Amino acid sequence: MQQSMLDGEEEDQLVSLFTDTDYQEIKFEYKEIKQTIFALKTSSTDYDLTGQIIWKAADILSKYIIDTLGPEVFAPIKPNILELGSGPGLCGLISQHYASQVVFSDYQDLVMDLIKTNIRDSEPSNKECQKLAVKLDWCKSSEDSYFDECEVYDGSGETKMKLSNTQFQFVIGSDIVYWNNSIKPLMNVLDFKEYNFVVEEIGQELSKPIEINSFIYKVTRIAQTSTDQEQLQQ
Ligand SMILES: C[S@@+](CC[C@H](N)C(=O)[O-])C[C@H]1O[C@@H](n2cnc3c(N)ncnc32)[C@H](O)[C@@H]1O
Repeated sequence: MQQSMLDGEEEDQLVSLFTDTDYQEIKFEYKEIKQTIFALKTSSTDYDLTGQIIWKAADILSKYIIDTLGPEVFAPIKPNILELGSGPGLCGLISQHYASQVVFSDYQDLVMDLIKTNIRDSEPSNKECQKLAVKLDWCKSSEDSYFDECEVYDGSGETKMKLSNTQFQFVIGSDIVYWNNSIKPLMNVLDFKEYNFVVEEIGQELSKPIEINSFIYKVTRIAQTSTDQEQLQQ
Protein backbone atom coordinates (compact mmCIF):
# COMPACT_ATOMS: atom_id res chain seq x y z
CA MET A 1 0.00 0.00 0.00
CA GLN A 2 1.27 3.46 -0.85
CA GLN A 3 2.19 5.54 2.18
CA SER A 4 1.00 9.18 2.21
CA MET A 5 3.86 11.68 2.59
CA LEU A 6 1.55 14.04 4.46
CA ASP A 7 0.62 13.86 8.10
CA GLY A 8 -3.08 13.96 9.08
CA GLU A 9 -3.23 17.73 9.55
CA GLU A 10 -1.46 18.44 6.25
CA GLU A 11 -3.76 16.06 4.47
CA ASP A 12 -6.81 17.83 5.97
CA GLN A 13 -5.44 21.19 4.80
CA LEU A 14 -4.94 19.83 1.29
CA VAL A 15 -8.45 18.40 1.21
CA SER A 16 -9.97 21.69 2.37
CA LEU A 17 -8.00 23.55 -0.31
CA PHE A 18 -9.60 21.52 -3.08
CA THR A 19 -13.07 20.91 -1.70
CA ASP A 20 -15.99 23.22 -2.17
CA THR A 21 -17.88 24.01 1.01
CA ASP A 22 -19.67 27.08 -0.27
CA TYR A 23 -23.09 25.73 0.74
CA GLN A 24 -26.22 27.55 -0.37
CA GLU A 25 -29.50 27.71 1.50
CA ILE A 26 -31.95 25.78 -0.66
CA LYS A 27 -35.71 25.90 -0.20
CA PHE A 28 -37.57 22.63 -0.59
CA GLU A 29 -41.29 23.33 -0.92
CA TYR A 30 -43.99 20.73 -1.21
CA LYS A 31 -47.58 21.01 -0.03
CA GLU A 32 -47.60 22.48 3.49
CA ILE A 33 -43.87 21.89 4.08
CA LYS A 34 -41.31 24.59 3.36
CA GLN A 35 -37.93 23.30 4.49
CA THR A 36 -34.63 25.10 4.12
CA ILE A 37 -31.49 23.03 3.80
CA PHE A 38 -27.84 23.83 3.14
CA ALA A 39 -26.08 21.99 0.31
CA LEU A 40 -23.95 22.50 -2.76
CA LYS A 41 -25.91 23.20 -5.90
CA THR A 42 -23.47 21.39 -8.15
CA SER A 43 -21.80 18.13 -7.47
CA SER A 44 -18.20 17.74 -6.43
CA THR A 45 -15.87 15.96 -8.82
CA ASP A 46 -14.84 13.67 -5.98
CA TYR A 47 -17.05 10.57 -6.14
CA ASP A 48 -16.70 10.20 -2.39
CA LEU A 49 -18.33 13.57 -1.76
CA THR A 50 -21.68 12.82 -3.32
CA GLY A 51 -23.11 13.73 0.08
CA GLN A 52 -22.68 17.45 -0.46
CA ILE A 53 -25.64 17.75 -2.81
CA ILE A 54 -29.31 16.80 -2.70
CA TRP A 55 -30.09 14.01 -5.12
CA LYS A 56 -33.30 13.55 -7.09
CA ALA A 57 -34.06 10.44 -5.06
CA ALA A 58 -34.14 12.55 -1.88
CA ASP A 59 -36.66 14.87 -3.50
CA ILE A 60 -38.88 11.92 -4.47
CA LEU A 61 -38.60 10.16 -1.10
CA SER A 62 -39.30 13.45 0.73
CA LYS A 63 -42.47 13.95 -1.30
CA TYR A 64 -43.48 10.37 -0.56
CA ILE A 65 -42.91 11.03 3.16
CA ILE A 66 -45.13 14.13 3.03
CA ASP A 67 -47.82 12.42 0.94
CA THR A 68 -48.00 9.06 2.67
CA LEU A 69 -45.35 7.82 5.07
CA GLY A 70 -45.31 10.87 7.34
CA PRO A 71 -49.00 11.32 8.08
CA GLU A 72 -50.05 7.66 7.80
CA VAL A 73 -47.11 5.66 9.13
CA PHE A 74 -44.82 7.92 11.19
CA ALA A 75 -47.18 10.45 12.80
CA PRO A 76 -49.37 7.94 14.70
CA ILE A 77 -46.34 6.51 16.56
CA LYS A 78 -43.84 9.41 16.41
CA PRO A 79 -40.96 7.02 15.82
CA ASN A 80 -37.19 7.22 16.13
CA ILE A 81 -35.75 7.19 12.62
CA LEU A 82 -32.24 6.47 11.37
CA GLU A 83 -31.28 7.94 8.01
CA LEU A 84 -28.41 6.13 6.26
CA GLY A 85 -26.14 7.96 3.82
CA SER A 86 -27.97 11.20 4.63
CA GLY A 87 -25.79 13.55 2.63
CA PRO A 88 -27.27 16.98 3.46
CA GLY A 89 -30.20 15.15 5.06
CA LEU A 90 -33.32 16.30 3.21
CA CYS A 91 -35.36 13.14 3.95
CA GLY A 92 -34.40 13.26 7.63
CA LEU A 93 -35.31 16.94 7.86
CA ILE A 94 -38.69 16.23 6.32
CA SER A 95 -39.19 13.23 8.63
CA GLN A 96 -38.61 15.43 11.71
CA HIS A 97 -42.14 16.80 11.26
CA TYR A 98 -43.61 13.37 12.05
CA ALA A 99 -41.03 11.85 14.43
CA SER A 100 -39.66 12.04 17.99
CA GLN A 101 -36.06 11.54 16.95
CA VAL A 102 -34.14 11.53 13.68
CA VAL A 103 -30.51 10.37 13.59
CA PHE A 104 -28.70 11.45 10.42
CA SER A 105 -25.66 9.46 9.35
CA ASP A 106 -22.90 9.45 6.78
CA TYR A 107 -19.25 8.43 6.65
CA GLN A 108 -17.38 11.50 5.42
CA ASP A 109 -16.21 14.13 7.93
CA LEU A 110 -17.00 16.90 5.48
CA VAL A 111 -20.54 15.59 5.05
CA MET A 112 -20.91 15.19 8.82
CA ASP A 113 -20.07 18.91 9.19
CA LEU A 114 -22.80 19.71 6.67
CA ILE A 115 -25.27 17.48 8.54
CA LYS A 116 -24.40 19.29 11.77
CA THR A 117 -25.13 22.63 10.10
CA ASN A 118 -28.43 21.36 8.78
CA ILE A 119 -29.68 19.87 12.03
CA ARG A 120 -28.75 23.10 13.80
CA ASP A 121 -29.72 25.81 11.32
CA SER A 122 -32.31 24.57 8.84
CA GLU A 123 -35.83 25.92 9.23
CA PRO A 124 -38.42 25.14 10.32
CA SER A 125 -37.16 23.02 13.16
CA ASN A 126 -39.62 20.81 15.01
CA LYS A 127 -38.62 21.34 18.64
CA GLU A 128 -40.42 18.16 19.63
CA CYS A 129 -38.11 16.09 17.48
CA GLN A 130 -34.55 15.47 18.63
CA LYS A 131 -32.20 15.79 15.67
CA LEU A 132 -28.90 13.96 16.09
CA ALA A 133 -26.00 12.80 13.93
CA VAL A 134 -23.63 9.86 13.87
CA LYS A 135 -20.65 9.06 11.69
CA LEU A 136 -21.52 5.59 10.46
CA ASP A 137 -19.54 3.80 7.77
CA TRP A 138 -21.41 0.71 6.56
CA CYS A 139 -18.12 -0.85 5.50
CA LYS A 140 -16.98 -0.93 9.13
CA SER A 141 -20.23 -2.22 10.53
CA SER A 142 -19.09 -5.83 10.65
CA GLU A 143 -16.12 -4.90 12.87
CA ASP A 144 -16.42 -5.97 16.50
CA SER A 145 -17.91 -3.29 18.74
CA TYR A 146 -18.16 -0.81 15.88
CA PHE A 147 -21.60 0.36 17.00
CA ASP A 148 -20.28 0.87 20.54
CA GLU A 149 -17.71 3.28 19.14
CA CYS A 150 -20.12 5.37 17.09
CA GLU A 151 -21.05 8.47 19.05
CA VAL A 152 -24.38 10.09 18.44
CA TYR A 153 -24.19 13.85 18.88
CA ASP A 154 -26.39 16.92 18.57
CA GLY A 155 -26.06 20.03 16.40
CA SER A 156 -23.53 21.57 18.78
CA GLY A 157 -21.37 18.44 18.63
CA GLU A 158 -22.22 17.31 22.15
CA THR A 159 -22.27 13.52 22.48
CA LYS A 160 -25.63 12.23 23.61
CA MET A 161 -25.23 8.46 23.43
CA LYS A 162 -23.64 5.53 21.60
CA LEU A 163 -25.27 4.15 18.52
CA SER A 164 -25.41 0.73 20.19
CA ASN A 165 -27.77 2.19 22.80
CA THR A 166 -30.27 3.55 20.35
CA GLN A 167 -33.40 1.96 19.03
CA PHE A 168 -35.10 2.87 15.80
CA GLN A 169 -38.48 2.02 14.45
CA PHE A 170 -37.59 3.03 10.91
CA VAL A 171 -34.50 3.21 8.77
CA ILE A 172 -34.67 5.37 5.68
CA GLY A 173 -32.26 6.12 2.86
CA SER A 174 -32.34 7.69 -0.57
CA ASP A 175 -29.88 7.01 -3.35
CA ILE A 176 -27.49 5.11 -1.19
CA VAL A 177 -26.83 2.07 -3.31
CA TYR A 178 -24.90 2.74 -6.47
CA TRP A 179 -21.82 0.57 -6.05
CA ASN A 180 -22.49 -3.15 -5.98
CA ASN A 181 -19.87 -3.63 -3.30
CA SER A 182 -21.72 -1.35 -0.87
CA ILE A 183 -24.84 -3.52 -0.75
CA LYS A 184 -23.48 -6.20 1.57
CA PRO A 185 -21.97 -3.71 4.07
CA LEU A 186 -25.22 -1.79 4.04
CA MET A 187 -27.15 -4.93 4.88
CA ASN A 188 -24.61 -5.61 7.67
CA VAL A 189 -25.74 -2.41 9.36
CA LEU A 190 -29.25 -3.73 9.46
CA ASP A 191 -28.16 -7.21 10.53
CA PHE A 192 -26.02 -5.84 13.30
CA LYS A 193 -28.91 -3.90 14.73
CA GLU A 194 -30.96 -7.08 14.39
CA TYR A 195 -33.56 -5.39 12.32
CA ASN A 196 -35.60 -7.65 10.20
CA PHE A 197 -36.24 -5.55 7.24
CA VAL A 198 -38.63 -5.13 4.43
CA VAL A 199 -37.17 -3.36 1.47
CA GLU A 200 -40.09 -1.59 -0.01
CA GLU A 201 -39.99 -0.20 -3.45
CA ILE A 202 -41.25 3.32 -3.83
CA GLY A 203 -42.10 5.17 -6.97
CA GLN A 204 -42.24 4.58 -10.67
CA GLU A 205 -38.49 4.45 -11.11
CA LEU A 206 -38.46 1.15 -9.37
CA SER A 207 -40.30 -0.68 -12.07
CA LYS A 208 -37.12 -0.43 -14.15
CA PRO A 209 -34.30 -2.88 -13.62
CA ILE A 210 -31.90 -1.72 -10.94
CA GLU A 211 -29.73 0.94 -12.45
CA ILE A 212 -27.17 3.09 -10.77
CA ASN A 213 -28.85 6.05 -9.08
CA SER A 214 -32.31 5.07 -10.18
CA PHE A 215 -33.96 3.65 -7.15
CA ILE A 216 -35.20 4.61 -3.77
CA TYR A 217 -36.21 2.36 -0.97
CA LYS A 218 -37.19 2.39 2.59
CA VAL A 219 -36.25 -0.25 5.09
CA THR A 220 -38.69 -0.88 7.85
CA ARG A 221 -38.19 -2.86 10.96
CA ILE A 222 -40.89 -5.46 11.43
CA ALA A 223 -41.85 -6.90 14.76
CA GLN A 224 -40.84 -10.52 15.34
CA THR A 225 -41.97 -11.03 18.90
CA SER A 226 -44.70 -9.59 21.07
CA THR A 227 -42.09 -7.52 22.95
CA ASP A 228 -40.97 -6.07 19.63
CA GLN A 229 -44.57 -5.33 18.81
CA GLU A 230 -45.06 -3.50 22.12
CA GLN A 231 -41.89 -1.45 21.57
CA LEU A 232 -43.00 -0.49 18.11
CA GLN A 233 -46.34 0.63 19.41
CA GLN A 234 -44.86 2.82 22.15
C1 LIG B 1 -25.73 9.84 -3.76
S1 LIG B 1 -25.47 10.39 -2.12
C2 LIG B 1 -27.15 10.52 -1.51
C3 LIG B 1 -27.26 11.55 -0.43
C4 LIG B 1 -28.68 11.77 0.06
N1 LIG B 1 -29.21 10.57 0.66
C5 LIG B 1 -29.57 12.24 -1.07
O1 LIG B 1 -30.31 11.41 -1.63
O2 LIG B 1 -29.54 13.44 -1.37
C6 LIG B 1 -24.90 8.90 -1.29
C7 LIG B 1 -24.58 9.10 0.18
O3 LIG B 1 -24.19 7.85 0.76
C8 LIG B 1 -23.02 8.07 1.55
N2 LIG B 1 -22.23 6.83 1.61
C9 LIG B 1 -21.63 6.18 0.60
N3 LIG B 1 -20.96 5.10 1.06
C10 LIG B 1 -21.15 5.07 2.40
C11 LIG B 1 -20.70 4.20 3.44
N4 LIG B 1 -19.88 3.16 3.20
N5 LIG B 1 -21.12 4.46 4.70
C12 LIG B 1 -21.92 5.52 4.96
N6 LIG B 1 -22.37 6.40 4.02
C13 LIG B 1 -21.98 6.17 2.75
C14 LIG B 1 -22.28 9.18 0.80
O4 LIG B 1 -21.33 9.86 1.61
C15 LIG B 1 -23.44 10.07 0.36
O5 LIG B 1 -23.81 11.01 1.34
